[in-house]
Amino acid sequence: MTKIIFLAIFPLTILSCSKDKVIPYSGLNCSDEISFSEDVLPLINQNCTGCHNNQNGYSLTNYDNISTNSKAIIGAMRGNNYQLMPKGGPMLPDSLIEIMECWVNQGKLNN
Ligand code: HEC
Repeated sequence: MTKIIFLAIFPLTILSCSKDKVIPYSGLNCSDEISFSEDVLPLINQNCTGCHNNQNGYSLTNYDNISTNSKAIIGAMRGNNYQLMPKGGPMLPDSLIEIMECWVNQGKLNN
């Protein structure tokens, strides 16, 4: 009986441990530290804020609302589970989307 319980719990333990270590956007080369004020905010301002300053469902104007909505922002930039954004425009280049993804990977620093 003990053996069976062990066999049942052991894989779960491994799964839960590895889950903690999963990086949201893995496989990225995020060696440089991303700056919120110098990298992320200008990127969002140039491409998103014109339509998302208290309109169209999202306000993307400052650290709080950008970090809260980071999952939706990246989903929309990639057209993954969200409508592709910028709306009507071409998809942003990977290098710009990766700035957002690396910023999230690095813990959404308010720097
Ligand atoms: C030209 C205007 C415009 C721009 C630029 C724009 N959006 Fe949007 N966005 C909209 C509108 C309008 C909607 C509401 C959905 C609709 O009517 O298509 C929307 C919806 C969204 C949604 C919700 C989509 C969904 O499927 O639930 C997200 C997230 C979003 N935008 C993020 C962004 C991000 C991030 C950027 C910058 C990369 C951006 N948007 C740029 C107009 C814009």
